[in-house]
Amino acid sequence: MARHLITSAIPYINGIKHLGNLVGSQLPADLYARYLRARGHEVLYLCATDEHGTPAELAATKAGKPVAEYCAEMWEVQAKLAEGFRLSFDHFGRSSSEQNRKLTQHFAKVLDEQGLIREVSETQMYSKADGRFLPDRYIEGTCPNCGFESARGDQCDNCTKQLDPVDLINPHSTISGSTDLEMRETKHLYLRQSAMKEQIEEWIDTRVGWPVLTTSIAKKWLNDGDGLQDRGITRDLDWGVPVQKGDEPWPGMEGKVFYVWFDAPIEYIACSQEWVEAGKGDDWARWWRTDKGADDVRYTQFMGKDNVPFHTLSFPVTILGSGEPWKLVDYIKSFNYLNYDGGQFSTSRGRGVFMDQALDILPSDYWRWWLLSHVPETSDSEFTWESFQSGVNKDLADVLGNFASRVTKFCRSKFSEAVPDGGAPGEAEAKLVADITAKVREYETHMEAVEIRKAAAALRGAWVLGNEYLQEVAPWTTFKTDPEQAAMQIRLALNLIRLYAVISAPFIPDASAELLTAMHAEGADWPDDVAAALTALPAGHAFDVPEVTFRKITDAEREEWQERFAGKRD
Ligand code: 2FM
Ligand code: ZN
Repeated sequence: MARHLITSAIPYINGIKHLGNLVGSQLPADLYARYLRARGHEVLYLCATDEHGTPAELAATKAGKPVAEYCAEMWEVQAKLAEGFRLSFDHFGRSSSEQNRKLTQHFAKVLDEQGLIREVSETQMYSKADGRFLPDRYIEGTCPNCGFESARGDQCDNCTKQLDPVDLINPHSTISGSTDLEMRETKHLYLRQSAMKEQIEEWIDTRVGWPVLTTSIAKKWLNDGDGLQDRGITRDLDWGVPVQKGDEPWPGMEGKVFYVWFDAPIEYIACSQEWVEAGKGDDWARWWRTDKGADDVRYTQFMGKDNVPFHTLSFPVTILGSGEPWKLVDYIKSFNYLNYDGGQFSTSRGRGVFMDQALDILPSDYWRWWLLSHVPETSDSEFTWESFQSGVNKDLADVLGNFASRVTKFCRSKFSEAVPDGGAPGEAEAKLVADITAKVREYETHMEAVEIRKAAAALRGAWVLGNEYLQEVAPWTTFKTDPEQAAMQIRLALNLIRLYAVISAPFIPDASAELLTAMHAEGADWPDDVAAALTALPAGHAFDVPEVTFRKITDAEREEWQERFAGKRD
């Protein structure tokens, strides 16, 4: 048994996330957490809302609410939706927590003591129309790298390049739209990332077996252009972590807050303190401090590709630069983008399906299955309603659901609602057990390597094997001439339903729980020994015919939804 710390990129507080966001970090992290727990490991899976910075301020202004109130409300909304999708966080924290404020100010202090922070007097864009300095996000313009016209002052969403507002061509204020911007003098803190370049590079170079997507983005930022540049970590905003050296004021920094990307990853640690504060755990340090046992922890992070530079470079600078024994990430799993029906999902334009809308039309397992089996792992992937309908109808309804329903109904009508006895298994059964064993082992290998599409394919393969077996031995025909033989086949098939429920639980937890309840097999263990697991339900063991586990999506529904979600969200 090992100890696994898992975090998924913490979603911005502003608004409900779309399915592209969900599949890019929280959902795969949940899959992995559920799998590792099912294998008996000790898991701490943390997530939180990313509440600081301009996105939160902008959204609160739009909602006409004080930002703290807006964040508190949106945290509730996001927590509820996470529950709806069965995201099994051990704690869902908030980056605006007291714990994160303290820890962020602590890191700033120790980084300063290590000589890694410098004060810079600089000129910054000031908007006369708005009467304020404009933070990066309040400025938009054309990306100097790729020509994208709506690049933000901090990053281009099109080519992922991290930007400074002064780099933008034709910049304007997103508050007022004003182009009347001028540069004015102000003081800011910079994290001396450049001083850590060699250390970070060596660390990246020695990461064995990391996804190419992760290391290639990290290497690109390390080696392209000017390499790892110093980064401003303070902003002129009201909302955020006030700039302090630990508990002490920071002269000249009054009225400024830390940049949201400085405090957001620190929330991964603070979240574990919130978890303790909430009474759910009693020791956060054994997960995070290598002097307190965290050396034994395997730490895996999940995120979309746009987040990779911050997690491979900036946050490690904070951790390593502190000179304190904090746990560093062991594996970074990153994802490409999920597109929506011929274009991009877009929060600002309300394009695509959002988490609340998805749960309004279908149970979470339908979405979990399709999203995870189409996760944009090796390239961008695309959500289309045709593909979604076919994934649900074929994999879930025709293959898994139909198997469970056919077997249990046949047993009830020909024998009873209890596992029948019957004769000894023969060659076909031995082959099935061997094939299922191989598939389960394959599934485990992929899950351990966090190869999600391959894991989904192996799981589907295991479901298919059961159907092929039924087709081949045809108990409904056998029954007419040899009821004993048919009983033995059905006994095996009933046991297979139980096994499917256990191994499918990380992907489709609700359906798995339903099937286990129907089989009167709650709490069933992982099939380390597949042959033994396939005899776990003995003759005479009672079961119920499960309710329809998965229903099919009709063509009419598909068309209606396609239409409904094509337009702009209200
Ligand atoms: O891209 C995003 O949604 C960011 N809110 C992710 C932050 S992850 C981390 F650094 F905490
Ligand atoms: Zn660009």
